[in-house]
Amino acid sequence: TYNAIRTLSTGAPDIQRLTVFGGGLMGAGIAQVAAQAGLKVAIADLSDQALENSRNIITKSLTRIARKKNPDDSAAQKQFVDGVFANLTTTTSAQEAIADSDLVIEAIVENLATKQELFRRLDGMADPKTIFASNTSSLSIRKIAEVCSDDRRKRFSGVHAFNPVPQMKLIEIISTSETQPEITEALLDLCKRMGKTPVQCADTPGFIVNRLLVPYLLEAIRMVERGDATAADIDTAMKLGAGVPMGPLELSDFVGLDTLSHIARGWREERVQTGEIDAKQVEEIKILDKLVSEGKKGRKSGEGFFNYSS
Ligand code: NAI
Repeated sequence: TYNAIRTLSTGAPDIQRLTVFGGGLMGAGIAQVAAQAGLKVAIADLSDQALENSRNIITKSLTRIARKKNPDDSAAQKQFVDGVFANLTTTTSAQEAIADSDLVIEAIVENLATKQELFRRLDGMADPKTIFASNTSSLSIRKIAEVCSDDRRKRFSGVHAFNPVPQMKLIEIISTSETQPEITEALLDLCKRMGKTPVQCADTPGFIVNRLLVPYLLEAIRMVERGDATAADIDTAMKLGAGVPMGPLELSDFVGLDTLSHIARGWREERVQTGEIDAKQVEEIKILDKLVSEGKKGRKSGEGFFNYSS
């Protein structure tokens, strides 16, 4: 059996075994980059079908990488993909998934009660040393961790990766007032081993990226609604005038208009009263809600502010 967590030279835990709960878009990506970095990774999800979906996402991504690495060598391509999969297991058993795990990263549905329910259950099953982390984009890490024991909350952090995980370099590491410094240090070390660039942030709405990005995107959508300028002209202006690679409306379509609307509503309902977010920044926007209700969710649905069907 597996002995107690080893430590880094600094005394921080050395993370070698990772369990990812929720093998969807994000969970599959996180599992993949960790397995590529040589960690032993277990993916847990609710059904065999979800796990198959997860393996398919990973196979597709790894195959693309393998073809780039060894364009003319299909044996080497297969060896690369098989090598990564040798570090990966999948299971529908939570108990099996967290046995011997140094770190659990949760990437299930973005719902506080559902996440709390999972962590409450895991807290009772996991080794006292196992570190817990959530990949939530918009919920409070402190609130998710609330259901765990005092000791576990000291080993609880946010690990916020970005979509698509294999391509995006950034990971935000979010500490609550209870997170121990050596836990943060262990997670920063892990991100670097996975080839990512970690940044640290307090447990505030949207962390760094979404805190700045979401109000900016919403304001661009308000400009369209007011008729200040067209979506196309706003995007051209920001690309050529502010040097951003993608204009705000195209970026909104990329993020997903439903996701954007969901984050704004969450902040409106949970974070305005607490004084964390200014009410004006997250006021409802008719044009955004209208597009979402018509099924125009952006790039993934083929249409949002722009049309992607062709
Ligand atoms: P997704 O819908 O692609 O995947 C969620 C997976 O979790 C599904 O496979 C589902 O079967 C599984 N699941 C649901 N409840 C579960 C449970 N109790 N136990 C085990 N598995 C369960 O969702 P996605 O996009 O991967 O998002 C996951 C999390 O990552 C959310 O918290 C989201 O806010 C966050 N996130 C999403 C980003 C994005 O761009 N999609 C970016 C960064 C964070």
